[in-house]
Amino acid sequence: MNLVEKIKQLKKEKNAVILAHYYQETEIQDIADYVGDSLGLSQKAAETDADMIVFAGVHFMAETAKILSPNKKVVLPDVNAGCSLADSCPPDEFKKFIEAHPDHTVITYVNCSAEIKAMTDIVCTSSNALKIVNSIAKDKPIIFAPDKNLGNYIIKESGREMLLWDGSCIVHEAFSIEKLLELHKEHPDSTIIAHPESEAHILQTATYIGSTAGMINYVKQYPEKKFIVATEAGILHKMAQEVPGTILIPAPAEADNTCACSECHFMKMNTLQKLYDCMLNESPQIEISKEIQERALVPITRMLELSV
Ligand code: 13P
Ligand code: SF4
Repeated sequence: MNLVEKIKQLKKEKNAVILAHYYQETEIQDIADYVGDSLGLSQKAAETDADMIVFAGVHFMAETAKILSPNKKVVLPDVNAGCSLADSCPPDEFKKFIEAHPDHTVITYVNCSAEIKAMTDIVCTSSNALKIVNSIAKDKPIIFAPDKNLGNYIIKESGREMLLWDGSCIVHEAFSIEKLLELHKEHPDSTIIAHPESEAHILQTATYIGSTAGMINYVKQYPEKKFIVATEAGILHKMAQEVPGTILIPAPAEADNTCACSECHFMKMNTLQKLYDCMLNESPQIEISKEIQERALVPITRMLELSV
């Protein structure tokens, strides 16, 4: 049996579900039961009746699944698959920050640790951040963390002042504005679409700004167009499957690298072999203390209730 067949067999034996983010390696996306953005993946994790959730994504995503389904086994192919954005917000420092602003409502982007979520009033993802911010009473001051780029974008869209945490994603900050404008000159008939974790000068060039799922839905509406796509390059696989024939060009990164795009090395730590191993060994498993799990569940549930 090859690896794909062995994974399918284990899935049946262990009543497992494989959830994968759009940034995963193509062979992982192709074997997954569901491929989606952060919001879609947490909704699936909340509603699944599987005994084991195999989370092909990064640590904070698997943690969110465990918070939502504490009685299920949640395994992550590579336990070191972290996130620069989540790492930019250490719980001790964040605690001091929110204690210094006790009148503020705390909104955190899902790309943060369970400890940070446990200090939060409401969680958001890139697909519902504007809606979540707009749901807060106008006279309430807001702390938004950890992504300053998404935060600045939401400030612009909502017209709300917010106190931002100084965090960012290394993958979305790697895009080069000079190379992007040059590429657009070479393809004047192309439309730029971007993820809101990108910097403001990249977002200014974009016709559409949205989450990974939002970007795929946008491209589906205009299959005859040509797109320059400013997010992690793994998304191009699902996009091309959904809209075959559309010309998709990855936005160029600052540094010269093999893919001439921007890749998340954390996401790419997961491989098909590690996926098989984690299912077989039921390890590495995500463990969260009961106290943190219960506190972090509250702001995630609030988000899901506002996202139906
Ligand atoms: P979304 O899946 O919400 O679009 O976020 C992208 C991302 O960076 C995930 O880490
Ligand atoms: Fe984190 Fe950026 Fe990788 Fe997403 S793409 S997991 S935000 S480092």
